[in-house]
Parts: sequence; structure tokens; C-alpha cells
Amino acid sequence: MSDNEVFEPAQEIVDEAWVSDWQALEEQAKADPAGYWQDRAHELEWSQPWDAVLDDSKAPFFQWFTGARTNIVTNAIDRHLSTARRNKLALIWVGEDTSKVRTFSYFALNREVERMANILKAMGVVKGDIVTIYLPRIPEIFFAMLACAKIGAVHSVVFAGYSSEALNARIDGAESKLVITADGSWVNGKVFPLKQIVDEAVKFSPTVENVVVVRNTGSEVTMDPTRDHWYDALCKLPIAKGHCDTVQVDAEDPLFILYTSGSTGNPKAIVHTHGGYQVGTYTTLKYCFDIKESDRWWCTADPGWITGHSYLVYGPLLNGATVFMHEGGPTFPYPDGWWELIEHYGITSFYTAPTAIRTLMRFGDAWVRKHDLSSLRILGTVGEPINPEAWRWFHRVVGNDRCPITDTWWQTETGMFQITTVPSMPLKPGSAGRPVFGQEAAIVDEEGNEVPDGTEGYLVLKNPWPAMMRTLFHDPDRYLNTYWSKYPGLYLTGDSARRDEDGYFWIIGRTDDVIKVSGHRLGTAEIESALISHPAVAEAAAIGLPHEVKGNAVHVAVVLNRGFEPSKQLEADLRSHVAETLSPIAKPDTFDFTEKLPKTRSGKIMRRVLRARALGQDEGDLSTLDND
Ligand code: PRX
Repeated sequence: MSDNEVFEPAQEIVDEAWVSDWQALEEQAKADPAGYWQDRAHELEWSQPWDAVLDDSKAPFFQWFTGARTNIVTNAIDRHLSTARRNKLALIWVGEDTSKVRTFSYFALNREVERMANILKAMGVVKGDIVTIYLPRIPEIFFAMLACAKIGAVHSVVFAGYSSEALNARIDGAESKLVITADGSWVNGKVFPLKQIVDEAVKFSPTVENVVVVRNTGSEVTMDPTRDHWYDALCKLPIAKGHCDTVQVDAEDPLFILYTSGSTGNPKAIVHTHGGYQVGTYTTLKYCFDIKESDRWWCTADPGWITGHSYLVYGPLLNGATVFMHEGGPTFPYPDGWWELIEHYGITSFYTAPTAIRTLMRFGDAWVRKHDLSSLRILGTVGEPINPEAWRWFHRVVGNDRCPITDTWWQTETGMFQITTVPSMPLKPGSAGRPVFGQEAAIVDEEGNEVPDGTEGYLVLKNPWPAMMRTLFHDPDRYLNTYWSKYPGLYLTGDSARRDEDGYFWIIGRTDDVIKVSGHRLGTAEIESALISHPAVAEAAAIGLPHEVKGNAVHVAVVLNRGFEPSKQLEADLRSHVAETLSPIAKPDTFDFTEKLPKTRSGKIMRRVLRARALGQDEGDLSTLDND
């Protein structure tokens, strides 16, 4: 990896960008971060101004724009309705079957959100209630999220690929009374049975009173007349009709919780709020992707992840942009489906994951060259480090050597980009870029001392930022311990990285027991407990191994119970068991059936030994290994 390969921006890009003189803004924001964020916040609407931009009196439980009243929907929809944007397309949706197209102007989006909000209210959802949303990439997921926000309810979106057990745990954690789902979703031409999974999940959820079901695939489902309601039928009822006010909430009121994997134990429910989150996502998308009125923005992420929340739903709408959403993946039915959509819909800004780029790159340039991609203006990546080779291919073949690539490093916890670039900055393939304006990052050693440039260490963030998580739902102690206890005053990201002499950051990977597979975040503990719930498995340990396309692949070491023998069939069974009990994303790629797991005397699994074994490398110092 060369730190010296630099792509300078074209002069017209610099001239036209929101941020032309990035050095000046970086300096200005560094000198006065609160002032910088205050200026950005003034670009949005607040029904009552703030007393303080940042209240750090309870740090690290930081609060932003305290005393202010607002609602993210006021800024994402309502304020556009009194301008020419009222008739601008807010959302263009294309199904996996690309002949299915639905479009919504801001006016129409508002009507849909009001309708969903009226229905939620009629079902007894009130401010502060948490609604669980288990929907695929269809317009109704926009309506559902925005409708919750509009009435002050909190949404908890669960990726519509998670198993019934994972969904059940998330519904129970949120104590949801209402779940919004669909009859099914389309995945590579087949129906994935969402409603059936919800039925299983809510069987043992005492809080769930109602399930709203969107008709999507037309597949047959079982409806419990006392609990389940077709969404299209509800829409026809008088309760759905009429205007619905956007409730003004405290800037610090919760907007959503989103579960994500951690090092140990149960997934963590990250809490984000209305005020700071809207300022952070609005600003970062505007500056880093240089959003302009005429843009058509396509973020391929699923709304079930933070990228979908911040940069598919909220960030673009806050900027009054036209959002493009596609139900399908990158290779179905052909590996040029995405390029065809870019050409057909005139996409200007395309934001995706390195795994998707590596996957498409393997099909060769011809699939891309078949299409006129001249509408593209800017490209972006997220979720995992992008290798320079994939970066160069994306730049040369997809971007035709013209489009800047904005790599964006951030996390579910950070809510918004933290390390990235703006289009006027020089780009370095493989580097995520520089801390966003108002942020400072550092690389520290075990003791928290900053290390010299070029040295690998722990990546930490120095300043609070408006879209930061506020806490972990129902678990403030875990918030403190996970992120703020190792180095007091510094936010621990869990990543390792290095900084070069130009101040660019190069992300290496996770330092904890989290594995990023195709950009998806998995906890080794979750995979292990899924495996152990299979009758054949006595003990299991999961690690990530380098994978050419997926970034990391899941490798597991498994100790079998008596009476079970290793076999290809058992591997296949264990794979589907993990898919069913956790998620298809978590399926192990490779297995090592072993008599005993390498553990320390205190019982901790020595993952480094498993890694060395799997890669055929020297196992290193085994003095702490428990050999009994
Ligand atoms: O390891 C980093 C990696 O993804 C982690 C956060 O995962 P998640 O909460 O699922 O959010 C993903 C989307 C924001 C980080 O700790 N990561 C994310 N973006 C990048 C990245 N690694 C390298 N480069 C990136 N651009």
C-alpha cells in the first residue's frame, strides 16, 4: 500500500464544490468545533432555539442543542413542502423485478408518511414507544421510519434477513407493541418469508399487540385476525385519512435504536436522537458527497443498517435530494443490473460497499462498458477497508477516471461519517481520508500515548460530535465501559489504523471480537452461541480470516459432542443452522473440527492460535495455553 499515490481533484470539481477551500474550513472548525456545528444547525429548522450547542457537563453522556425543539421530519420533509421541492422527486424505487417502479415527490412522500403516522396513532402508538420495523428495501420502510419519527415514536429497524430468534430478542429488548413487516421479500428471484419469521418471533413476545403487514410478494401468509392487519386494508379506513402534525420534540429525544454486534454478549442497542443526528447527517452528506439540487443519489445499503438510516433515508431527505432505492443485489439476474440502473435513471452519486465493488470487478470491465455511466459525478464506499486495486478499478472503469471516490469510515455508534474526504481534497486509494471538520482523531498505543505517524495503533476520536450515540439502550454502564473506559476522554473505536505524514488515516481492521464480513458486522459470540445451540456442537470459536471478495470470511473451530463425526454433511447442516438461528450473513465458510479449543488458563479462547492454525502459520508463544 503506497501512501504516495495521490489523485488530485480536477479544478472544476474544486470550483463547484460546497467546500472548495477545505484547509481553511478544517482549521476554522478545529479552532471552534461548537461554532462550526452551530453554523450548520442554522441551516435547518428548529421550532425553539437551543440554549447550548454542546452540553458536556455529564460527559461522556454528551448532549447537543439542549433546550431546542425540532423534529427530523420537519427538516426531512415538511420544510421542503413550502418550496419548489414540493414537486421534486423524493424517492425513486425500483424492484428486484426492474419493471416494478414507484416514484414519490416530496408532496406524495408526505402523504404516505401522514397516512402511516395516522395508522400508528390509531393503533395506540404514542411518543416514546418503540416500533419494530422488519421490512425489506421497499418504499414502505421509508414511510414507517419517517412516520414513527413524525409522531415522536422511536423506531427499531431489524434487518429483514435476521432469523426469528434474533428478531424476537430485538422485539423483546424494545418492548414493542407494534411490528411492521411484509408478506415477504424478493431475494435473487425467491421469496424470503418475512411474515412467517415474524410469526415465530412474536409467539413468545408478550408485548406485541399488533402486526402490520405490507403486501409485497403476494405470497400466501397466515394472518391472525386478532393481531395481524394488512397495510393496504388499513390505508382504506377513515383512521388513515387526513393531515397528521409533526410533533415537535426535544432535540435530545430519541429518534431510533439500532442493534449492532459487539465483542461479547448480546447485541447492543445504540440510541440516536433527533437534533444532533439531523445536523450531523445533513452536513456530512452535503459536504462529503457535495449534494446538489439536481443530484440523483443512490446508496445501495439496506435501511436495516446504519448506512441505510443515515445516508439512504435521513441524510438525503434532509438535503432535499432525490433518493434512488433498489430492492435487488449487485449480480441478479446479471452482473450489470446496477450499471443499467445508473444509466437508465441518470444516477449522479453512487455509494456502495467494497465487497460489492470486488464482486462486480471479477466479472470484468465489459459489463460496465456496455453502459453509458456519464451521469455519474461522484462515487463512495463504506463498511470495510477498500483495497487500492478495487479503488482503482472503481475509479477507472465505473468513474471513467472522472469521479472522485469518497471513502467513508464510521460506525453505527457514530451515526455520521468520521473519517472521509470532501471532493476538493486529494485522494489516496486505500486511505479513508481525514477526520470530518470539527473532529480530531488519533492513533494511540496500549497506554493511550499517541504513536508516531506511520505506526499502527488504536484509532480514537477526540471530540464529541452531534450525531454521536447518546448511550446504549437500558445499559449506560456498558456504554461507559465499551467506549470510554480504556482511555478516559477519548472515544475508543475498536479499530486499528495508522496515520500518514499528510494526516490521512489508513484503517486496518477491528481490534476486538467483531468480524466484518462483506461490510456486515458480526460478533464472534453471536456466531458461537448459534453453533452451540446445535445438538452436535459442544464448543465453538469463531474468527475472521482474510477473504478476497468479502474482506473477511467466518472460520469456526468446533468441538463435537460424543456420537457426532465431522463430515461435509454436518458442515452443511451447521451452516444452515447458523443461517436460521442468526442470519445467512453469519454462515461459517470454513470449519476446523477439533478435540479441544486453545484456551488460556483463565478460559479465554486464544483466537490468535486458531488464526495461525487456519492459515498454516507458526502458532507463536503458547506459554499461556492451558494444556490440561
Ligand atoms: O471496522 C470499521 C468498519 O466498520 C465498522 C463499523 O461497522 P458498522 O457499525 O456496521 O457500520 C458500518 C457502516 C458505517 C468500523 O468500526 N468500517 C466502516 N467503514 C469503513 C470501515 N473500515 C474501513 N473503511 C471504511 N470506510
